[in-house]
Order: sequence, then structure tokens, then C-alpha cells
Amino acid sequence: TAHPTEIVRRSVSRKFLRIQHLLSELDRPDLSRLEQREIGEALHRAVAELWETDEIRRVRLTPVDEAYNGLQTMEQTLWDVLPDMYRRFDHALESCTGQGLPMGLAPIRFGSWMGGDRDGNPNCTPQVTREVCLISRIRAAELYYREIGRLHQDLSMKTASADLLREVGLDTAEPYRKLLKKVLKRLRKTQRHLHRTLQAVRSGELSRLPPIRGQLYLQAEKLRAPLMLCYRSLVASGNSMIAGGRLTDILRRIDIFGLVLLKLDIRQEAGRHSAAVGAIIRHLGMGSYLEWSEEEKQDFLVRELESRRPLIMSTFPAPDEVDDEIREILETFRMLSVQNPESLGTYVISMASEPSHILEVALLQKECRLQQAMPIAPLFERLDDLNGAADTMERLFAIPWYREKIQNRQEVMIGYSDSAKDAGKLAAAWGLYRAQERLVQVCEQHGVALTLFHGRGGTVARGGGPAHEAILSQPPGSVNGNMRVTEQGEVIQSKYGLPGMAMESLEVYIGAVLEATLRPPPEPRERWRKQIDSLARDSLQEFHRVVRYHDDFVAYFRAATPEQELGNLKIGSRPARRRPGGGIETLRAIPWIFAWTQTRLMLPAWLGVGVALEAAIDRGDKPVLDEMQQEWPFFRATMDSIEMVFSKADANVSEMYDFRLVPTPLKPLGEELRRLFRKTMNLTLAITGHKVPLETQPVVLRSVEVRNTYVDPLNVLQVELLSRVRSKEDDASLDALLVAINGISAGMRNTG
Ligand code: PGA
Repeated sequence: TAHPTEIVRRSVSRKFLRIQHLLSELDRPDLSRLEQREIGEALHRAVAELWETDEIRRVRLTPVDEAYNGLQTMEQTLWDVLPDMYRRFDHALESCTGQGLPMGLAPIRFGSWMGGDRDGNPNCTPQVTREVCLISRIRAAELYYREIGRLHQDLSMKTASADLLREVGLDTAEPYRKLLKKVLKRLRKTQRHLHRTLQAVRSGELSRLPPIRGQLYLQAEKLRAPLMLCYRSLVASGNSMIAGGRLTDILRRIDIFGLVLLKLDIRQEAGRHSAAVGAIIRHLGMGSYLEWSEEEKQDFLVRELESRRPLIMSTFPAPDEVDDEIREILETFRMLSVQNPESLGTYVISMASEPSHILEVALLQKECRLQQAMPIAPLFERLDDLNGAADTMERLFAIPWYREKIQNRQEVMIGYSDSAKDAGKLAAAWGLYRAQERLVQVCEQHGVALTLFHGRGGTVARGGGPAHEAILSQPPGSVNGNMRVTEQGEVIQSKYGLPGMAMESLEVYIGAVLEATLRPPPEPRERWRKQIDSLARDSLQEFHRVVRYHDDFVAYFRAATPEQELGNLKIGSRPARRRPGGGIETLRAIPWIFAWTQTRLMLPAWLGVGVALEAAIDRGDKPVLDEMQQEWPFFRATMDSIEMVFSKADANVSEMYDFRLVPTPLKPLGEELRRLFRKTMNLTLAITGHKVPLETQPVVLRSVEVRNTYVDPLNVLQVELLSRVRSKEDDASLDALLVAINGISAGMRNTG
């Protein structure tokens, strides 16, 4: 995703990568003195460049910039790492099962939201999506051109199969090269065509789109075919060894990246589609759709989906007939209808809660005549919606039209941060767990293969944590040989920026998915369920008491954290709020958590937990909690992640913010929150059985402690700078404040 969570500028992180590279070069034992000196100088230069570079982003990124950044990671590391990773996986499978990875199978694939996610982001327009799809194809064509050029050099063999010779002519001296030359020519032509199309899109002269002349590579299968011909020919002529090298790598890349590098998902909020369908119905004089009952909506939508007659003309809406938001929705679907279907991934509906939300998107796809319907994934992300998720899907599966359409496959996305923002960490974690359990059951009953798409961020309050533990703590049956997961801004560099790290991150995923599938975690015992039900209920109540119903809360949040100042950071292309104005409800989950991370109170990760644990212990349930911590991976992963937060959090630091920035009448709330903080930390440690947070992970603890040493003074500075910026005493302080925010996020390792 392109979520606004990567605070480090691209120019800066590139220098970090260079420094990392130089440092590992310095470790080589075979370096001559001269080489050592040269690397030392290069290191010096890189540090000096960094020192002289502005660490603050002055210009807001556009979604197209974000897409370029994402593509760079693909090109820099994943393009090369994936074939190596597949080779390793192939060897491992072969040594365990006697059978390697079959050709044509792609266990890891990538999608992207950069340029596709328009939920609450008015900057992500149809034009942007169109551009991004083209840019992605252009990059892919370049990468394939380079690789196939190298393959052309390699494949100088003369023995070939009859099939291949028939294709290139019997008397050809170097048949492979001859075939590949044709491929390269066609790739060049494709590149030129894509470039011209991009120019036409950028200049808005779509009527000047170039006609497709001659043969181009517009479908992955077309590029695959000649390469498979080479592959089969090499195998048939006793050259399997050669076939297993670069050629296999390219074929695997086609399976993984297609001709597009990244398939683009599209995301929009449910209410926006409902409004668009409402406008269509109003235009047809059929009534007021938004006031219909859910059943009436579904009946209408299914009738229209089954009908062959279109509902609207392509001239709808006339100028001024609908507002800009509705026009934008229709334009988006019309834009999707002219995209190459291979560029598109899933259509995700955020804030989904009813079957009609999914049917509306299906209807809009039909009305705007998408060449190939995109699979639709509802995103359930508020506690009530998660509780109702399985029921919503069951009602959809009961509709014959829908069953026929999905061909027994369904992707469902579950949102970690918005649920935690809605209900607090503990209630959300249990809500997510139960939703998955029930979705698995419902899909099993209906014979539907379910893919759960986990929308999680890097921080604990956004569902982050070590991937291996997270996957192994899912309900049994929910990781059934497959899963989908978001990798967000702040972790992309650290997980995939360097080839070695990228390989390790992918290995962790493959290993954990295999393990969770073949040896799923235990079913929770009945007494654990009862216990966590009470914990979730108590913590939800406490979370709402403070965040929703405490009169001073919003005012306190605004005074005690840099929430209002974060907007100046220009981290990503989308605004911090879904809609202008409003309180916590319109604020996106990321800035909500970001703000609390800065002051080190980290409230979203723990609020409600302490009160719930205390009630359980008072009920005499400590032995059950201990048993859950010992034996239930889900509970352990949840408690361990909360404990980790306490290693970075610091109530004394947050007290400093209150002392200087919070008006006196609001101060008691801050004191109460810090009391709750301390209580929650002690009770969490009582459950995990540690004296201090992270006691059993000395390496992580040491790393956090080293960083905290540098972050603490930045917090002191931030308090002073916030006070100056707010009193408008000194304009220059804003820059310094932004640098402090940057530094604290870097030290906390996760911004949002
Ligand atoms: P969202 O993401 O606001 O785009 O749903 C939240 C998150 O990733 O934390």
C-alpha cells in the first residue's frame, strides 16, 4: 500500500541503503588496503551527503510519485530476489517431498494500492490510475527486454526440437537466438506503444491514442508462449540444465509479475458507491434508493445484475446532474473498463457492512462495461461489521446470481487499525479472530475457497508485530494454504529494501503459511473463550468511556499530541481525515496512532486492557489467564505485542507534554491516563511473567534502549517547539518541529 506511513524521504532512504551496502562491503576479508580506503571514503561521502540533505519533505507526494516509489522496490530487489527465492523453495520442496515446484505455479504474488486506493484520497483520480497502470507496464516491458536480451546471449545452442525449428526455419544456425530476436523486437514495439499511450493520457488527448499496429505483448500468455517453446526444446534436446537457468527465472517472473509488475487493486468507501447507485435511480425516476430497506436494495440490484438491458446510457450524467463525488465514481468505473484486465487486481470496498455494498460495485462494473469483472472484496473494519461479516457473506452466498459469479472463490479483507480505533486493541483483536473463524465456517459450508486479506500496519495498534507469530496465532483453518497481507509504507524499506532482507521476509511468510496450514494452532478451549469474551467486553467499555464519552478527550488529544501539526509533514498523497472537520471519527487510523506514538503514551495499543485484566484477576481468573498465555498462540501474541509497546512507551515523557501544552482544566484527564498506563503495564507484565518489558528478548530490548536514549531529548525539544509553534512566537520553529517528529518516528521504528 502507499499508506502515508513512510516518513523518511526517498532520497534519504536511498543513502541509507548505500551506507548499508558499503558497510557490508567493508566486512569482506579479502579487501586490499586501497579498497578499504576507497570504501571508507565513499562512506564518508554518503554520510556527508546525508547531512547536507533536507530530511523534511517540502512537496506533497502525488499518488503517481508513490507508485514510482513502489515500483522502485520491485525493480531494486524483488525482481531479482523472487527467482532466487523460488529456486530455494523448489530445492526445499524437492528434498522434503521428492517433487519440486511445478512450472507455472506462483506461490508469492504482489498487488498494489499505489494509484488505486482512492478511499478518502481525492488526489487519486481516474487519470492517476490510468497513468500508474501504464507506467507499471512500461517498467515491466523494460525489465523483460533486459532479461531476454541476456537470455539471447546465453542461448547460442544449435540443437532444437522440431517444434522450435518449424517456427524459425529448419536451416537456422542458432534457432533459439532467432526466436528470441523476434521476441525482443516485439517487446520494443510494445514499449513504444505504451510510451505513446502514456503521453496521450498525460496530455489529455485520449482521442489521439495510437491504434495498435502489428503484434504487441499485451497479455502475459503471449510472451510466455515463445519462451516455453525454448524451454521444451531445451529439455527435449537433453539441455534441461540450461533450461533451468535464466530461462526458468524469466518464466517464473511472468507467473509472478505478469506483464504489469504489480496488479493494481482499486479501493473505495462503501457509501460512495451507494450514493452513485442512488443517483442513477433518481435519474431514472425510480425513487430514493438510500431510503430503501436492505432487502429492497438487494432485490433491485440482483434484478438489474441479471438483466441484459443496461440501466444507464454512456451519456449519464448530464453536466450538473450529479455532484463531483458521484461523477468521479462513474468516471472511475468507466476508466476501469478501458484498462487491460491484466493490470487490475481486486476491487476492495472499505467500511463494508451489507450485502448490497458488494452488489452495488458489481452493478457499477456491469453498467460501465468492464471488459472483465474485477473480483470484489469487502473490507470489514469496524467491530460491528466484523461481528456481522460472516452473516453478510452468508446472505450473499444465498443469492444464486452471486454464487454463479464468484466461481467458488471469495476474498475478504479484514481491517486491523480501524477496528482498533473503533474498539481498542483487545476487543478488536478478538473481534478479528472471531470474524475469521466464522468466515471460515460459512465458506466451508458453502464450498467457497476463502482468501483472507489482512489489512495490517507496522505498529501494534494497527495489527503489526512479528509476521511469523502473527500468522501462527490466527484461528485454525484461516490460513488454508493461502493468505494475503498488506505491507505498508513504513515497513517496505526495512523488509524489502535490501535483497537479503527481502529474501528473509518472504521466507518467513512461506514458512509460516506452510506451518499454519499443516500444523494449525489449537482451537481455543471453552473457558478461554469465555474469559476473552469478558476481557474484550470490559476493555471495549473502558476504551469507549475514555475515547467516545469523556467530555475532555478530544480537546485533550489535540492539546497533548502533535496531531494538528502532523498535517504539515506531507508524508503521503492523502489527507489525514476522511472528511474535513469532525473529531476522532473522521481522523484516519494512521494519524490517530502516529500522534500518540510521538508523545510516547501510545494509548491506542493498550487503553482498556488494564481495566479488563484487573477485573479478570479480581474475579479470581488469573490461573486461566496464565493458561491462555502458555497455551494459546493468539492470546500470547496479543499480550506480547502489548508488552513490546511498553518498552518504547514512557509515561514520564507524556507528562512533560501535559505540563507545558495542556490547559489546566484538561490536566486531570492526562493524569488519569497515565495512572491507567502504569496499571496496564504492570498487569501486562504479570500475565507475560516478566519483570520488565522484553526481558526475554535481550537483542530487541538493547536496540530499543539504545534508540530511546536518542529519542528522549527529541521529545524534550518537541514539547518546546510545539509550544512555540502554537503561540506563533516563532515561525522558524515549525521546521525544527517537523525534524523532531521525523526523528521520534525513526526512533520508534514505526510511525503510524
Ligand atoms: P486505512 O488504513 O485508513 O487506509 O484503512 C489504516 C492502516 O493501514 O492503518
